[in-house]
Amino acid sequence: MKNNENLSTGPAVQRDGFRSVLGAFTATLGSAVGLGNIWKFPYLTGVNGGAAFVFAYLICVAVVGLPLLVAEHVIGRRMRLNAVHAYENVVPNERAWSLIGFAGVLAAVLIMAFYTDIAGWVFAYVAKSVAAFATGSGPLTKESFASLAGGSLEPLAWQAGVIALVTVVIAAGVSRGIEKVTKFLMPVLLGLLILCDIRALSLPGAFKGVSFLFAPDFSKITGGVILAALGLSFFKLSLGMGTMTTYGSYLPDGTRIVPNATRVALADTVVSLLAGLAVFPAVFAFGFEPSAGPSLLFISVPMIFSKMPLGGLFTSLFFILAAIAAVGAMISLIEVPTAWMSEKGRIKRPVAAVISGAVMLLLGVLATLSQGPILSNVKIFGKNFFDVFDFASSNVLLPIGGVAIAIVAGWRLARKEFIAELDKGYGKTPWYSKTIYAFIKFVAPVLIVVILLNSLGLLKL
Ligand code: PHE
Repeated sequence: MKNNENLSTGPAVQRDGFRSVLGAFTATLGSAVGLGNIWKFPYLTGVNGGAAFVFAYLICVAVVGLPLLVAEHVIGRRMRLNAVHAYENVVPNERAWSLIGFAGVLAAVLIMAFYTDIAGWVFAYVAKSVAAFATGSGPLTKESFASLAGGSLEPLAWQAGVIALVTVVIAAGVSRGIEKVTKFLMPVLLGLLILCDIRALSLPGAFKGVSFLFAPDFSKITGGVILAALGLSFFKLSLGMGTMTTYGSYLPDGTRIVPNATRVALADTVVSLLAGLAVFPAVFAFGFEPSAGPSLLFISVPMIFSKMPLGGLFTSLFFILAAIAAVGAMISLIEVPTAWMSEKGRIKRPVAAVISGAVMLLLGVLATLSQGPILSNVKIFGKNFFDVFDFASSNVLLPIGGVAIAIVAGWRLARKEFIAELDKGYGKTPWYSKTIYAFIKFVAPVLIVVILLNSLGLLKL
């Protein structure tokens, strides 16, 4: 997209996009909902002391996450371009903002590198738990997890399989691929999750888990806890790296951006809380350690369910659910580089998808092997590859990207243009357009900068 005249009317070529307002909603929600809800939210809540972290997280979603989601959708739909080209052209004569898009492509690759490792475990657990249920063999144990995660060929094969799967969906396109798949997956996911909740909540002693999740002990809040909550809110809502800008570019003009984004943020948060309600009551009922870390899901959940009637069935259901959630999110991660490369013109969409998948697999191998003997000794700033990719994306790249996006939307783009895009689908400007604009312009960037400075020790709160 070189031709500036075309920008206000959209690109000259016919561009694929979401065909319906409902499809646009489920696809956006499909990007947000993922392992972030089912794996990361429970484990971070467990590690960071429970309800106090949940409280900090909810605030971050409301005052930073939601406004930024709106900002990304506005910029995306206004430009109708992939993230790199959208930011390159959104402010006349300030092409350097394309760095937001490039940083986003980098973040997408880093996130996919560790995300597909976890997703590979999830798919492996689907196969293993279904097999165990069918043959009536014992539950998946701590040892079975250690041998999977600490292995090399087995997790790599699952990881490669997962990447191949999402590459195929992405190659199929936006409306035929993304929209179709997510419209079907989201309701199935919700149904399965509620089933697991009912099971967990009906356990004797379940209440302790509920209060761990909802009764905050504010003395547990530290700078590190707040940074983790902020990072999770970016990761959860797929913000700060152009995913939601790219999806914004596929939104129909009939979509009302603020209500759509609010519904996405709310539904996503509900899914996280439902996941927490499936995990923690059972953790406490059976006396497990809530702060087990990334393995919480894989070690506790099968053990927990194994002690209940029909446990094998619920274990399988739980991992099928996690797999479904992971697919929608991975689709949106691989879409960022794919859309950029294919809209640069020379590369066809399926080829762009394969190149993206291949690069992600390359880095992904590092993340996966860093969990086992082969690379576990290689440390960068004291962290292995997996943890470096995770920390650098969620706690560094995404928040910095978020500040840059807030600056573009709030300070570099004319207010009139921003509000005009926001108001599409309405007769007149609704009252909340101005409020959300103020959050984008002032509240979100200031808060992010304060939290980042505080975590670097440059500012004492
Ligand atoms: N939001 C996804 C999840 O919660 C992860 C994700 C992050 C997807 C960034 C796209 C971009 O699992």
